[in-house]
Amino acid sequence: MKRLLERLEEVFFRHVGACILLLCVMPLIFVGHGIFREIEVEQAPFDAETEDLIVVGFSQLGSESGWRTAHTLSVQEALTKDAGYFLIFNNARQMQENQIKALRSFISQRVDYIVFAPVIESGWDTVLQEAKDAGIPVIVIDRMVNVEDDSLYTTWIGTDARKEGEKAGRWLERYLREREMQSEDINIVVLQGTIGSTAEIGRTEGFRKIADFHKNWHILESATGDFTAAKGKEVMEKMLRRYPNIDVLVSQNDDMTMGAIAAMQEAGVSFGEDGEVAVISFDAIYDALEMVDAGRINVDIECNPVQGAYIDEIIRKLENGETVEKSYIVEENIFTKDNVAEFLEGRTY
Ligand code: AHR
Repeated sequence: MKRLLERLEEVFFRHVGACILLLCVMPLIFVGHGIFREIEVEQAPFDAETEDLIVVGFSQLGSESGWRTAHTLSVQEALTKDAGYFLIFNNARQMQENQIKALRSFISQRVDYIVFAPVIESGWDTVLQEAKDAGIPVIVIDRMVNVEDDSLYTTWIGTDARKEGEKAGRWLERYLREREMQSEDINIVVLQGTIGSTAEIGRTEGFRKIADFHKNWHILESATGDFTAAKGKEVMEKMLRRYPNIDVLVSQNDDMTMGAIAAMQEAGVSFGEDGEVAVISFDAIYDALEMVDAGRINVDIECNPVQGAYIDEIIRKLENGETVEKSYIVEENIFTKDNVAEFLEGRTY
């Protein structure tokens, strides 16, 4: 009996000991593998106060597209040290929780301004209230926020996504009329961007508004490609398998369009000016405009990423105690084979 008790005691302590050891070591393993790792917000060793620089925390939603790269660059080129800024940059990798962490980090660092491009429209009330309570002006750029109290941000600079969607619809009306196809049944598929983002909501609603006037326009399917080439290709492959008779592709950004074009090439489906599928794209980055010029994309509705200079101007006004508008919309164009050549020259993105 005594031996049995001793044996039980030995087994119990060996297992409890192992468990305690495991509990101590596990977090170290996770940290090593990045599971508990905080998102990286540059902890700026800024001596900005002594240098008299304006400290700006910039939360960019991600790096999902060529457009996004141009957008980030535009901000970084405008808010330079020479122009009087100390810029703290964070890339949220398309995740709202990362953006919220970044904003909180900017608040705790007591930056002078927060600039941020929100990944989706909803879910910002609490963190923006925290910024307001800390007295930090917030400049929203690119996409919008949908908040109950619009005093939670100072101003918004961006593009008119709804109008972009309408422009796509109007272009399709003209295109069909020119080909005397306005009364034919037209099968359309839509590659949407990140669901819940301003660019997706606006372009979807704007295009649908025009489509609703045409009973012969059939939107066979709308599905998200998350604004990336890889996802755009994947979704288009499925659509091509499902629908053998697509007439029009509406792709809500150039990266997804590139992916969809690769899918059509692989499936042996012709597209563009003389093809089976007319291609409508958005953004108008350089590589896509070259494809417009080559007749592979029929039309590209511009979404202008050059927003940095506006931010600089707004901050200067605020620093001088001037009032600013609640919203600023940047200028945008439409590109087809007829006008694209003159714009390609000198375009930097
Ligand atoms: O919000 C603007 C959109 O976001 C652009 O169309 C797209 O390319 C980007 O990812």
